Amino acid sequence: MGVYEEYAEVYDRSGQLAFSLKMLSYLEKLLQRHPVQGRTVLELACGTGTVAVALAKAGWKVYAVDLSARMLAQARAKAQEAKAHVIWSQQDMRRFVLPERVHLVTCLYDSLNYMLTSEDLGAVFRRVYAALQPGGLFAFDMNTAWALATLWNGETYFNDFGDLAVVFQSKYSEQEQRTTVRVTCFQQVRGKLYRKIVEEHTEQAYPPEHVSTLLCDVGFAIEGQYDCFSFSPPAETSMRIMWVARRPA
Ligand SMILES: C[S@@+](CC[C@H](N)C(=O)[O-])C[C@H]1O[C@@H](n2cnc3c(N)ncnc32)[C@H](O)[C@@H]1O
Repeated sequence: MGVYEEYAEVYDRSGQLAFSLKMLSYLEKLLQRHPVQGRTVLELACGTGTVAVALAKAGWKVYAVDLSARMLAQARAKAQEAKAHVIWSQQDMRRFVLPERVHLVTCLYDSLNYMLTSEDLGAVFRRVYAALQPGGLFAFDMNTAWALATLWNGETYFNDFGDLAVVFQSKYSEQEQRTTVRVTCFQQVRGKLYRKIVEEHTEQAYPPEHVSTLLCDVGFAIEGQYDCFSFSPPAETSMRIMWVARRPA
Protein backbone atom coordinates (compact mmCIF):
# COMPACT_ATOMS: atom_id res chain seq x y z
CA MET A 1 0.00 0.00 0.00
CA GLY A 2 1.38 3.45 -0.98
CA VAL A 3 1.28 6.65 1.03
CA TYR A 4 -1.91 8.69 1.49
CA GLU A 5 -4.06 5.66 0.82
CA GLU A 6 -5.77 4.36 3.97
CA TYR A 7 -4.44 7.38 5.88
CA ALA A 8 -6.51 9.65 3.58
CA GLU A 9 -9.71 8.82 5.43
CA VAL A 10 -8.37 10.07 8.76
CA TYR A 11 -5.94 12.72 7.43
CA ASP A 12 -8.02 15.80 8.34
CA ARG A 13 -8.97 14.43 11.74
CA SER A 14 -5.41 13.45 12.62
CA GLY A 15 -4.52 17.12 13.17
CA GLN A 16 -3.62 18.06 9.60
CA LEU A 17 -6.68 20.22 8.89
CA ALA A 18 -5.47 22.88 11.31
CA PHE A 19 -2.32 23.37 9.25
CA SER A 20 -4.26 23.99 6.03
CA LEU A 21 -6.48 26.54 7.76
CA LYS A 22 -3.43 28.38 9.12
CA MET A 23 -1.87 28.26 5.65
CA LEU A 24 -5.00 29.74 4.07
CA SER A 25 -4.86 32.94 6.07
CA TYR A 26 -1.10 33.23 5.43
CA LEU A 27 -1.67 32.69 1.70
CA GLU A 28 -4.16 35.53 1.67
CA LYS A 29 -1.53 37.92 3.08
CA LEU A 30 1.12 36.50 0.77
CA LEU A 31 -1.01 37.30 -2.27
CA GLN A 32 -1.40 40.88 -1.09
CA ARG A 33 2.40 41.21 -1.13
CA HIS A 34 2.78 39.24 -4.36
CA PRO A 35 -0.33 40.00 -6.44
CA VAL A 36 -1.43 38.00 -9.46
CA GLN A 37 -3.23 39.30 -12.52
CA GLY A 38 -6.05 36.75 -12.77
CA ARG A 39 -8.14 34.32 -10.78
CA THR A 40 -7.20 30.92 -12.15
CA VAL A 41 -5.22 28.71 -9.79
CA LEU A 42 -3.74 25.24 -9.64
CA GLU A 43 -3.56 23.68 -6.17
CA LEU A 44 -0.82 21.10 -6.69
CA ALA A 45 -0.70 18.08 -4.35
CA CYS A 46 -4.06 19.31 -3.08
CA GLY A 47 -4.55 16.46 -0.59
CA THR A 48 -8.02 16.49 0.94
CA GLY A 49 -8.78 19.76 -0.84
CA THR A 50 -9.16 22.22 2.04
CA VAL A 51 -7.26 25.00 0.25
CA ALA A 52 -8.74 24.19 -3.18
CA VAL A 53 -12.30 24.35 -1.85
CA ALA A 54 -11.66 27.60 0.04
CA LEU A 55 -10.17 29.23 -3.07
CA ALA A 56 -13.14 28.08 -5.17
CA LYS A 57 -15.53 29.56 -2.59
CA ALA A 58 -13.55 32.81 -2.78
CA GLY A 59 -14.23 33.05 -6.51
CA TRP A 60 -11.14 31.45 -8.07
CA LYS A 61 -11.36 29.01 -10.95
CA VAL A 62 -9.54 26.08 -9.35
CA TYR A 63 -7.68 23.14 -10.80
CA ALA A 64 -6.50 20.65 -8.18
CA VAL A 65 -4.07 17.79 -8.75
CA ASP A 66 -2.97 14.97 -6.47
CA LEU A 67 -1.47 11.54 -6.99
CA SER A 68 -3.62 9.80 -4.40
CA ALA A 69 -7.06 8.66 -5.49
CA ARG A 70 -8.12 8.39 -1.88
CA MET A 71 -7.05 11.92 -0.96
CA LEU A 72 -8.95 13.13 -4.03
CA ALA A 73 -12.04 11.19 -2.95
CA GLN A 74 -11.97 13.05 0.38
CA ALA A 75 -11.45 16.32 -1.48
CA ARG A 76 -14.37 15.71 -3.84
CA ALA A 77 -16.68 14.95 -0.90
CA LYS A 78 -15.54 18.17 0.81
CA ALA A 79 -16.25 20.20 -2.34
CA GLN A 80 -19.67 18.63 -2.75
CA GLU A 81 -20.60 19.44 0.82
CA ALA A 82 -19.38 23.03 0.41
CA LYS A 83 -21.10 23.33 -3.00
CA ALA A 84 -17.75 24.41 -4.48
CA HIS A 85 -16.70 23.77 -8.06
CA VAL A 86 -13.14 22.44 -8.40
CA ILE A 87 -11.64 20.64 -11.40
CA TRP A 88 -9.91 17.65 -9.83
CA SER A 89 -7.44 15.32 -11.50
CA GLN A 90 -5.29 12.44 -10.39
CA GLN A 91 -1.83 13.13 -11.77
CA ASP A 92 1.79 12.96 -10.77
CA MET A 93 3.13 16.45 -10.14
CA ARG A 94 6.32 15.59 -12.01
CA ARG A 95 4.34 15.07 -15.21
CA PHE A 96 0.96 16.84 -14.91
CA VAL A 97 -0.73 18.74 -17.70
CA LEU A 98 -3.62 21.22 -17.56
CA PRO A 99 -6.05 22.31 -20.28
CA GLU A 100 -5.10 25.99 -19.80
CA ARG A 101 -2.41 28.15 -18.23
CA VAL A 102 -3.12 29.52 -14.76
CA HIS A 103 -2.21 32.71 -12.87
CA LEU A 104 -1.18 31.02 -9.65
CA VAL A 105 0.19 27.62 -8.62
CA THR A 106 0.30 26.65 -4.95
CA CYS A 107 1.94 23.54 -3.53
CA LEU A 108 1.57 23.49 0.24
CA TYR A 109 2.31 21.62 3.44
CA ASP A 110 5.72 20.23 2.48
CA SER A 111 4.31 18.30 -0.46
CA LEU A 112 7.50 19.09 -2.39
CA ASN A 113 9.61 17.35 0.27
CA TYR A 114 8.07 14.17 -1.13
CA MET A 115 10.31 14.69 -4.17
CA LEU A 116 13.19 12.51 -3.11
CA THR A 117 15.67 13.52 -5.80
CA SER A 118 16.80 16.82 -7.22
CA GLU A 119 15.76 15.57 -10.69
CA ASP A 120 12.19 15.04 -9.48
CA LEU A 121 12.06 18.45 -7.81
CA GLY A 122 13.38 20.06 -10.99
CA ALA A 123 10.79 18.16 -13.05
CA VAL A 124 7.98 19.63 -10.91
CA PHE A 125 9.41 23.13 -11.31
CA ARG A 126 9.49 22.69 -15.09
CA ARG A 127 5.88 21.49 -15.20
CA VAL A 128 4.77 24.38 -12.97
CA TYR A 129 6.58 26.90 -15.14
CA ALA A 130 4.85 25.50 -18.25
CA ALA A 131 1.46 25.60 -16.50
CA LEU A 132 1.76 29.29 -15.56
CA GLN A 133 0.74 32.30 -17.58
CA PRO A 134 3.64 34.70 -18.20
CA GLY A 135 3.68 36.83 -15.03
CA GLY A 136 2.11 33.99 -13.04
CA LEU A 137 3.13 33.14 -9.49
CA PHE A 138 4.30 29.94 -7.82
CA ALA A 139 3.99 29.74 -4.01
CA PHE A 140 5.16 26.67 -2.11
CA ASP A 141 6.56 25.74 1.26
CA MET A 142 9.20 23.17 2.16
CA ASN A 143 10.47 21.69 5.39
CA THR A 144 14.12 22.54 6.02
CA ALA A 145 16.88 20.11 6.99
CA TRP A 146 16.80 21.86 10.38
CA ALA A 147 13.14 20.85 10.82
CA LEU A 148 13.80 17.24 9.87
CA ALA A 149 16.86 17.08 12.13
CA THR A 150 15.14 18.59 15.17
CA LEU A 151 11.43 17.68 14.94
CA TRP A 152 11.68 14.39 13.05
CA ASN A 153 14.94 12.85 14.25
CA GLY A 154 13.98 9.77 16.25
CA GLU A 155 11.06 11.54 17.93
CA THR A 156 7.77 9.78 18.62
CA TYR A 157 4.54 11.78 18.83
CA PHE A 158 1.24 10.43 20.07
CA ASN A 159 -2.15 12.11 19.65
CA ASP A 160 -5.38 10.79 21.08
CA PHE A 161 -8.52 12.14 19.44
CA GLY A 162 -10.92 9.78 21.24
CA ASP A 163 -12.09 7.47 18.47
CA LEU A 164 -8.80 7.97 16.63
CA ALA A 165 -5.26 7.62 17.97
CA VAL A 166 -2.23 8.54 15.88
CA VAL A 167 1.44 7.72 16.44
CA PHE A 168 4.26 9.31 14.42
CA GLN A 169 7.69 7.65 14.71
CA SER A 170 10.53 9.28 12.87
CA LYS A 171 13.98 8.26 11.67
CA TYR A 172 16.38 10.84 10.24
CA SER A 173 19.42 10.28 8.07
CA GLU A 174 21.84 13.15 8.59
CA GLN A 175 23.88 12.09 5.60
CA GLU A 176 20.90 12.13 3.23
CA GLN A 177 19.01 14.93 5.05
CA ARG A 178 15.99 12.69 4.77
CA THR A 179 13.38 11.58 7.31
CA THR A 180 11.08 8.59 7.25
CA VAL A 181 8.00 8.86 9.44
CA ARG A 182 6.01 5.78 10.28
CA VAL A 183 2.38 6.82 10.79
CA THR A 184 0.26 4.37 12.76
CA CYS A 185 -3.43 5.13 13.28
CA PHE A 186 -5.96 3.26 15.34
CA GLN A 187 -9.42 4.20 14.16
CA GLN A 188 -12.45 3.04 16.12
CA VAL A 189 -14.80 1.40 13.66
CA ARG A 190 -17.40 -0.54 15.65
CA GLY A 191 -17.93 -0.81 19.38
CA LYS A 192 -14.52 -1.58 20.83
CA LEU A 193 -12.98 -2.62 17.53
CA TYR A 194 -10.19 -0.56 16.06
CA ARG A 195 -8.77 -0.56 12.53
CA LYS A 196 -4.98 -0.21 12.34
CA ILE A 197 -3.50 1.88 9.53
CA VAL A 198 0.26 1.97 8.91
CA GLU A 199 2.08 4.08 6.32
CA GLU A 200 5.69 5.20 5.90
CA HIS A 201 6.26 8.72 4.60
CA THR A 202 9.68 9.88 3.46
CA GLU A 203 10.63 13.55 3.13
CA GLN A 204 13.79 14.96 1.60
CA ALA A 205 15.23 18.34 2.62
CA TYR A 206 17.16 20.50 0.17
CA PRO A 207 19.56 23.36 0.93
CA PRO A 208 17.80 26.66 0.08
CA GLU A 209 20.61 27.56 -2.36
CA HIS A 210 19.85 24.38 -4.26
CA VAL A 211 16.12 25.15 -4.47
CA SER A 212 16.99 28.67 -5.70
CA THR A 213 19.29 27.27 -8.38
CA LEU A 214 16.67 24.81 -9.61
CA LEU A 215 14.03 27.55 -9.80
CA CYS A 216 16.34 29.94 -11.65
CA ASP A 217 17.52 27.23 -14.05
CA VAL A 218 13.89 26.71 -15.08
CA GLY A 219 13.46 30.47 -15.66
CA PHE A 220 11.68 31.59 -12.49
CA ALA A 221 12.48 34.90 -10.80
CA ILE A 222 12.50 34.46 -7.03
CA GLU A 223 10.37 37.15 -5.40
CA GLY A 224 10.32 35.97 -1.82
CA GLN A 225 11.77 33.49 0.61
CA TYR A 226 10.18 33.66 4.03
CA ASP A 227 10.35 31.96 7.37
CA CYS A 228 6.94 30.39 6.83
CA PHE A 229 3.92 32.14 8.41
CA SER A 230 5.92 35.34 8.66
CA PHE A 231 7.47 37.76 6.20
CA SER A 232 10.92 37.62 7.77
CA PRO A 233 13.78 36.13 5.81
CA PRO A 234 14.57 32.52 6.70
CA ALA A 235 17.13 31.95 9.44
CA GLU A 236 19.37 28.93 9.95
CA THR A 237 16.84 27.59 12.43
CA SER A 238 13.76 28.12 10.25
CA MET A 239 11.62 25.01 10.18
CA ARG A 240 9.79 25.77 6.96
CA ILE A 241 10.46 28.14 4.09
CA MET A 242 7.74 29.70 1.99
CA TRP A 243 8.99 30.32 -1.52
CA VAL A 244 7.49 32.78 -3.96
CA ALA A 245 8.67 32.61 -7.57
CA ARG A 246 7.32 34.29 -10.68
CA ARG A 247 7.38 33.29 -14.32
CA PRO A 248 8.63 36.48 -15.98
CA ALA A 249 6.00 38.37 -17.98
C1 LIG B 1 1.47 16.56 3.34
S1 LIG B 1 0.22 16.24 2.15
C2 LIG B 1 -0.32 17.87 1.82
C3 LIG B 1 -1.68 17.94 1.21
C4 LIG B 1 -2.23 19.34 1.01
N1 LIG B 1 -1.37 20.15 0.19
C5 LIG B 1 -2.48 20.02 2.34
O1 LIG B 1 -2.07 21.19 2.49
O2 LIG B 1 -3.09 19.42 3.23
C6 LIG B 1 1.17 15.80 0.71
C7 LIG B 1 0.33 15.51 -0.53
O3 LIG B 1 1.22 15.34 -1.63
C8 LIG B 1 0.67 14.36 -2.49
N2 LIG B 1 1.74 13.85 -3.36
C9 LIG B 1 2.88 13.22 -2.98
N3 LIG B 1 3.60 12.89 -4.07
C10 LIG B 1 2.91 13.35 -5.15
C11 LIG B 1 3.15 13.34 -6.55
N4 LIG B 1 4.26 12.77 -7.06
N5 LIG B 1 2.25 13.92 -7.37
C12 LIG B 1 1.13 14.51 -6.86
N6 LIG B 1 0.84 14.53 -5.54
C13 LIG B 1 1.72 13.96 -4.69
C14 LIG B 1 0.11 13.33 -1.53
O4 LIG B 1 -0.81 12.46 -2.16
C15 LIG B 1 -0.51 14.23 -0.46
O5 LIG B 1 -1.85 14.51 -0.74
